[in-house]
Amino acid sequence: MKRFPNEFADLLTPKGRRILDGKDASVTGVLLDPARRFVSLAGVVDVTKATRCRDLLDAALRETLVPMEDPIPHDSISGMTMNYMELLPKTVRVRTALLENRRTRSWKAAEQVGLVAMLHSETFAAFAAAVSGRTLRRNWGIQVLCYGPGDYSGPHNDHHPEEEEARDGYVDMHLSLTMPGVEHQYLVYEKDGHLTEMTKVSTVGGMTVYRLPFWHYTTPLLARRGAEASCRRWVLLGTFLDAAPNARKGSTVAPPGAPERRLAGPRA
Ligand SMILES: [Fe+2]
Repeated sequence: MKRFPNEFADLLTPKGRRILDGKDASVTGVLLDPARRFVSLAGVVDVTKATRCRDLLDAALRETLVPMEDPIPHDSISGMTMNYMELLPKTVRVRTALLENRRTRSWKAAEQVGLVAMLHSETFAAFAAAVSGRTLRRNWGIQVLCYGPGDYSGPHNDHHPEEEEARDGYVDMHLSLTMPGVEHQYLVYEKDGHLTEMTKVSTVGGMTVYRLPFWHYTTPLLARRGAEASCRRWVLLGTFLDAAPNARKGSTVAPPGAPERRLAGPRA
């Protein structure tokens, strides 16, 4: 395979298509439930196609990534003056390809293999709209992450109170494309005030959809013994804002079956 399909829908299995069309009642609009912040979907992306995409992605983008690293602050222990008052900001180590800037090597490489077009395709946003149950704004953000051995993200919640359009919540959708050298990686997330829930994200073609903000972290990527050279987990990522209630129809992507003037959906 030399190029990604133009439409995300071309990667879907029949089950994935049913979700896209709003015909799977167990998944359609599942994130409208305020108690449900996260859903992990298996068997919706064709594994053979996902594997080809993964290998294409790895060949095209591996050399263009930039490190993103925020360690534990050096004075987080020595600067403490009271017992039990430690604070941990978001820590992370991963590599990324920011696809918003057309001048980067990553964007050029991603454009060349059709990845930019696929992540901007109508059906990519339509899938997020179907699962989240919300009418979403066009011009969503796209990104590629690549976790290598030991890469992780520490506990954080992805809340953006300073941004009016995101402060009441927004939708993230990830497609995981994991290479053979990976033993495991998990997403751990909050339920009833505790970080007790855990889902394996080191899949080939697994989709995860999030109604942010909520507390979560990603465990360090563990390599299979002797397979460090091919220990990478790629993530294709879309970030979708809710459409404004009075938004023009052409500026939004509605979930399947939504009446024309459907509002952005209940606030979580
Ligand atoms: Fe996050």
